[in-house]
Amino acid sequence: MKLGARFSLIFALLVSLAAGLMALFFYLSETTHLENSIRDEQTIALRKWAGLCSEAALTKNEIILIPYMAVLKREPKLAYSAYLDLAGKVLVHTDPDLIGRPWDPSWETGDLWVQSAPVMLRRQRAGRVLMAYKGDEVRSETRRLLARDMRRFGLIAASASAIALIVGLILAYGIARPLRIVAQGALLIGEGRLDHRIRIKRKDEIGILAASFNQMAKKLQELDELKNQFISTVSHDLRNPLSAVVMYGEWMLNDEKDQVLPRHREKIAVMVDNAKRLGIFVTNILDAAKIKAGKMEYHPRPLELSLVAKNALSLFSLVAQQKAVALSAEITPGLAPILADAERFDQVISNLVSNALKFTDRGGSIVLAAKPAAEKVRISVTDTGKGIPADKLPHIFEKFSQIDAAAQRAQGIKGTGLGLYISKKTIEDMGGQISAEPAPGRGARFVILMPVAMAP
Ligand SMILES: Nc1ncnc2c1ncn2[C@@H]1O[C@H](COP(=O)(O)OP(=O)(O)OP(=O)(O)O)[C@@H](O)[C@H]1O
Ligand SMILES: [Mg+2]
Repeated sequence: MKLGARFSLIFALLVSLAAGLMALFFYLSETTHLENSIRDEQTIALRKWAGLCSEAALTKNEIILIPYMAVLKREPKLAYSAYLDLAGKVLVHTDPDLIGRPWDPSWETGDLWVQSAPVMLRRQRAGRVLMAYKGDEVRSETRRLLARDMRRFGLIAASASAIALIVGLILAYGIARPLRIVAQGALLIGEGRLDHRIRIKRKDEIGILAASFNQMAKKLQELDELKNQFISTVSHDLRNPLSAVVMYGEWMLNDEKDQVLPRHREKIAVMVDNAKRLGIFVTNILDAAKIKAGKMEYHPRPLELSLVAKNALSLFSLVAQQKAVALSAEITPGLAPILADAERFDQVISNLVSNALKFTDRGGSIVLAAKPAAEKVRISVTDTGKGIPADKLPHIFEKFSQIDAAAQRAQGIKGTGLGLYISKKTIEDMGGQISAEPAPGRGARFVILMPVAMAP
């Protein structure tokens, strides 16, 4: 669940919980409050009734009670009201049949709320009044009032929850949005886009976080530039002396006057071989640095695949023969030329064929093929070598990635682990795609898709 949704849900849940607790508290206190106010009303009515009865006793005229009696009878909750003299004889009663009879306590039975008060005449008791309310009527009145109040409260609580949800959403959006921007920025910086900056101008913690990320990216960018500069300077400075070593070494080996002693000749050959390898390594490092900096130059022109195949075969057929590996090309006749920089494309094919030769044992075979595929040309290098394990396939094009560097070195297989990285970048920069897959049977297959050169 996203942060915004989670945040607003928690917010709304908390408000609903608070509203629920408030509703419970309100229900309990309102029940007592309603019961008390009904009792207060009844006490007021009883006092009024006792006061009127005092007046009637004073004037000895009970007729004045008749209008109030009529009012009391209209009250549906009232069971009866009565006025008794000191001897307990009923002087006035809402039921006229009981007037004049002695008070019988059995009349009070049933679900009744009875209240009584003395009738005073010149500070002397002159009798008592009684008022009885029907219990069920009182309770249903309480319930009705309570339900009305709870409905109003519910309406207020629901509105408060809805407002809380909206406020929660707005708040969550306000927090989640900049966090999302920071997360996306951090992801881009992590992917190597060191020139990316997170554009958030705030003074709070999120603003500080964004500023720290930007600071980190700036520092990393400076270090990266410094590293690239260092690599290209050192590589450049290494290339010239290395060329001199190779050149003079080869000159000595080709010396026709045989002035170089045979015991020295072998050592010079090793020296030339190693200097050449170091030269390839330096070239690879320089190429990778150029590609990374976007400074690699391409001159795309229509390129015939038959020519590419011819170059590759002439370059590697001797090594293939020595290793007893069959190296062949299968180019569909009349295949349309591709659009590519010839030198760079040859470099890619050389790396794929040299890899295939490195990892294919004696008796194996390597096929360089090219055929049309929709609007493109599909070029593949398939070998019958040791192949690439499925879990290594996704990483094979990464910088310095070698399946088992230590084992390869122990077997005398040489390489820097930069060839496929450079190949992938080169092919993609030229508008193509490259992928690796297991070859049918055994071995590895590298497939390149290149755009066809349009006829001028
Ligand atoms: N045809 C292949 N069969 C089996 N493994 C391969 C094949 N091609 C490449 N690999 C694996 O991928 C790794 C990376 O290849 P890559 O060409 O990038 O580097 P390299 O050949 O080791 O060195 P270099 O930079 O000299 O090319 C190799 O070291 C090897 O482990
Ligand atoms: Mg290689």
